[in-house]
Amino acid sequence: MFLFLLLVLHSKTHAQIDPALCRYPLGMEDGRIKNDDITASSQWYETTGPQYGRLNKEEGDGAWCPAGQLQPSDVQYLQVDLRQLTFVTVVATQGRYARSSGNEFARKYRLDYSRDGHRWISWRNRYGSEIIKGNVNTYASVVFGCPWQDGLTAYSAPEGQTMMAPGFPNTLLNDSTYDGVLERRKLLGGLGQLTDGVIGQDDFVQTRQYQLWPGYDYLGWRNDSLGPGYVEMEFQFDRQRNFTSMKVHCNNMFSRGVKVFSSVSCVFKPHLISEWEAEPVVFSTVLDDRNPSARYVTVPLLQRSGTATRCRFFFADTWMMFSEISFHSAMNPVPTPWSRVMTTPLSETESPALTTGKTGVTTVSPKTQSPEEGGTSILIGCLVTIILLLVVIIFLILWCQYVYKVLEKAPRRILEEEVTVRLSSCSDTIVLQTPPVPPRVSLDPPYERVFLLDPQYQDPAALRCGGGYAEPDVTQCTPHQGFQTSVPHYAETDIVNLQGVTGSNMYSVPAVTVDSLTRKDISVAEFPRERLIFREKLGEGQFGEVHLCEAEGLAEFLGEGAPLPEQDGRSVLVAVKQLRADATSNARNDFLKEIKIMSRLNDPNIIRLLCVCVRSDPLCMVTEYMENGDLNMFLSQRELESTLTHANNIPSVSMADLLHMAVQIASGMKYLASLNFVHRDLATRNCLLDRQLTIKISDFGMSRNLYSSDYYRIQGRAVLPIRWMAWESILLGKFTTASDVWAFGVTLWEIFTLCTEQPYSLLTDEQVIENSGEFFRNQGRQIYLSPPPLCPPSLYELMMRCWSRDIRDRPSFSSLYQALRPHAHHS
Ligand code: ADE
Repeated sequence: MFLFLLLVLHSKTHAQIDPALCRYPLGMEDGRIKNDDITASSQWYETTGPQYGRLNKEEGDGAWCPAGQLQPSDVQYLQVDLRQLTFVTVVATQGRYARSSGNEFARKYRLDYSRDGHRWISWRNRYGSEIIKGNVNTYASVVFGCPWQDGLTAYSAPEGQTMMAPGFPNTLLNDSTYDGVLERRKLLGGLGQLTDGVIGQDDFVQTRQYQLWPGYDYLGWRNDSLGPGYVEMEFQFDRQRNFTSMKVHCNNMFSRGVKVFSSVSCVFKPHLISEWEAEPVVFSTVLDDRNPSARYVTVPLLQRSGTATRCRFFFADTWMMFSEISFHSAMNPVPTPWSRVMTTPLSETESPALTTGKTGVTTVSPKTQSPEEGGTSILIGCLVTIILLLVVIIFLILWCQYVYKVLEKAPRRILEEEVTVRLSSCSDTIVLQTPPVPPRVSLDPPYERVFLLDPQYQDPAALRCGGGYAEPDVTQCTPHQGFQTSVPHYAETDIVNLQGVTGSNMYSVPAVTVDSLTRKDISVAEFPRERLIFREKLGEGQFGEVHLCEAEGLAEFLGEGAPLPEQDGRSVLVAVKQLRADATSNARNDFLKEIKIMSRLNDPNIIRLLCVCVRSDPLCMVTEYMENGDLNMFLSQRELESTLTHANNIPSVSMADLLHMAVQIASGMKYLASLNFVHRDLATRNCLLDRQLTIKISDFGMSRNLYSSDYYRIQGRAVLPIRWMAWESILLGKFTTASDVWAFGVTLWEIFTLCTEQPYSLLTDEQVIENSGEFFRNQGRQIYLSPPPLCPPSLYELMMRCWSRDIRDRPSFSSLYQALRPHAHHS
């Protein structure tokens, strides 16, 4: 087994950790983790010792290799001493590349961690699995991570409970990733979901893709089951600290009997072995039964110092639910005995570049003033800080505007050259283009900040005509014709937006091709609706439902040469998309437009419209039925084909299948692009598979309930698949074939991750939008999707080209098709 290891973490300037920003290398690559801190259970030779188990380094024989002929049951380990408390978000492994002479890698591994050097805990994912898939690619890696400044080493709490309410699914409010022990209904000695950086949603009953059950992110308790009217929690820290505040992320769905706590009372323990101090810090919240949003409640802890705190959170309603707790504190200079092992975490002012395992360095001095003298000086200090901050903010805004103008005026070539240099210099190994930079302090809400970048920018949602999000530019429908790198004014655009009726943004086409529609304009055959026999519901969206139906005598009805699958009897199975009876007239119009467009599409990789029922309500469109459902569902239920999957009859797909899927989607998109059709929502969820695994591109609407977390809602006005959208579509509302190419890159990425992960799963929607700002700014801070473990490097290069900043650098669908086809045939 050859293994390179990269451990990464990020520098936290806020008390609570944000896994999406926690993405700094810990030093396995650049040597900040010293050779002495990397040990192993054994080594094969001197030249394959543990110190050579570093990413992207070719020293020694280029990797760590344990001794002996290993059997699958053998356990060997590589151990890294991080020398400080660390929030690890991603561990990247890399096979032995050895200047292309090696091709060895660890397929799977386990990760054990210890906070005190004694108790070792096996990391488990949210499904409870301890096995992590290794990177089978020998020269690519993934890079994320950051320092853990809370210093919190454990919390204890009563075990979470299950909420049961008639008409709702059971909501299990336990701490499913807690790594301590459960003893007499109490969680003891570990950390878990309250410190994982993931906050719960407002409506905890809804589940997102990564959540396993309703309420997954919350730890919650019922008032009457605990007795005293409060929940008591204890928090242990690595050393004595001066606490400024505690932030508790709480749910507030009062309609379900959940509210933030009414008050909290905390006592402190100055030293590990001392008693609890008698005087508590007490804080009352202002209860809110108007706004059901989950929120952070900040509890001032008045600079009290301690190595532990015990807090009682008092119920305001039947339930109390927390998803995250974090502390703002400064370290006291005298280390407690057990901090010998932990060593000093970074101060808030140190940049991650300085995290080189320095031990015992504190740069934040604790505040030790008496309350009386402290009061005025704190006030003056605060005022001065606020004034300074304002000056800095004004300066930054002016500076940004100036830089923006200069950049926009500068010859375009400069920016383009920068991109090329960046890409080529990293050629094979880029994953994250982002050099480790300290997280920037966000001055504006991210959404506004991104949009402020473009002085010409107007909120696309506000400019909508016809119900969609944005209108693509008719001059931009083909990717490589006349792209203006200077941003066109939004109002120049002249395309009719077709919003699909099940909530979709259906294909958009130049205004000239779609006039205002009436039923009479529809040329596709009207099928007698009484001959559609309902079988089951296939899906639903905001504006309608899709049903599986038998269509009696459809083959005869359509006549010779109809594109129907082989049928046993007279009936044909079809999918029937039906408009809701109470749909608005806009939705009706859009439905008719969608029919008109679909009736013109004729390609083996595009879903085919067979007939319609539009003479009476409800309006229906009848399409071919695809037995294997959508590609996202299909792939997420399969593993990559291997002897194991064969032996155990596990549903699987081969690499050749995946490539064939990619080719078919490229082919369907090539056809759409040849007609200047812009899809605007290409993703695996919108690709259907028939019995023979033929893929047909379709569009079910952005509000399909199943995939609603893939869409971003702009204050109820539009839903956008932002994780699939090119930067210019997000920032400028510009949808073109080139932005479809971007989405194709993301779709490829989904295919080769077998749809196990949502794109940018570590980023929130707001951060995804911010990231598109980074693509626009092009200063090397943009984050790319990392290479899926199964993905051949040349394919990842293709994806990266789809995500080129400049649309002229993105490939066309024809060239994508040409590039993919040979792969599919040879594998
Ligand atoms: N779900 C939505 N449309 C479908 C179709 N045409 N075939 C199968 N499942 C579907």
